[in-house]
Amino acid sequence: MASPSDLIPGLIEPVPLQNLVIQQGPLASIHLDVLRLDRVHPLVSGNKWYKLKYNLDECLKSEVKTVVSFGGAWSNHLHALAAACQVVGIESVGVIRGHKPDVLSPSLQDMQAMGMCLHFVTREAYRRRHDVEFHHELIDTLACDPTSTRMIPEGGSNALAMQGCVEILSLHGIQSEDYDLVATACGTGATLAGLILGAAGKGRFLGVPVLKGGDFLIQDIHQRLMDIKCDHQNWQLRTEFHCGGYARQTEELQQFVRRFFDETGVPLDRVYTGKLFFALEQLVEKGDVLPGCRVLAIHTGGLQGNRSLMES
Ligand SMILES: Cc1ncc(COP(=O)(O)O)c(C=O)c1O
Repeated sequence: MASPSDLIPGLIEPVPLQNLVIQQGPLASIHLDVLRLDRVHPLVSGNKWYKLKYNLDECLKSEVKTVVSFGGAWSNHLHALAAACQVVGIESVGVIRGHKPDVLSPSLQDMQAMGMCLHFVTREAYRRRHDVEFHHELIDTLACDPTSTRMIPEGGSNALAMQGCVEILSLHGIQSEDYDLVATACGTGATLAGLILGAAGKGRFLGVPVLKGGDFLIQDIHQRLMDIKCDHQNWQLRTEFHCGGYARQTEELQQFVRRFFDETGVPLDRVYTGKLFFALEQLVEKGDVLPGCRVLAIHTGGLQGNRSLMES
């Protein structure tokens, strides 16, 4: 049985590790490298490929016919899942938070065009997305065969996703200890947990939650690590850079993303990577990251979501 890596054409591994030459502002005082996971594939981009590869591998091995997963109208995860499932020949269902809009967002239109069946549920129902009983109800409603259907959680964030993220640094020949800090944006924290695990206690990791009140992620990430008997402590979260909450943005964030692109040519999204680099700039400004520090930032993709900006 071929693995998804063999089946998905156009994957670029390894992707570029880019040193950013920044002339002005706080980031000019550090050595900043960016791992451009946004370049791994035009559709299965960023951390998504790493989170999906072992999930899809397992589905192919178990002859799964349908994958069901969860997300919002601009979900990077569902977008990537729809693309990957189409290529490997597995049916996909996206359970979408909120009522069906009169006009589908470009992300939803893409998902549909890539063969994903879109199933809209109320926000109240969506809160049950982790509930096994809700999964059974969904399988009934969608008339899926329960024996050949897999549920993948929101953001793809399960143990198999972590396993994929474990490989992010090693696949690119990166040793975490060559940096003072390896930084990534956090939604569920699965990507950060995978990176920490892959580094086997070496280096230092920083996660920047993009949700308000991101302290709960400390426990979640500990739990993800403890579940696989890993108690590395070489990581921390900085939870104050959410810019008002998930998918919220401030004028300063928007200006930063534009300035960053003008100076480096690296496109960022406003939901994840924009907040990560904006956080790094502020941490240097505050003196929490010192001049001369070697920092590796993971560009986790998400650029398809930038189309939401046209709507605001
Ligand atoms: C572009 C992007 N970056 C980062 C993340 C955060 O990943 P995680 O949920 O594994 O923390 C996500 C969400 O999955 C994302 O879409």
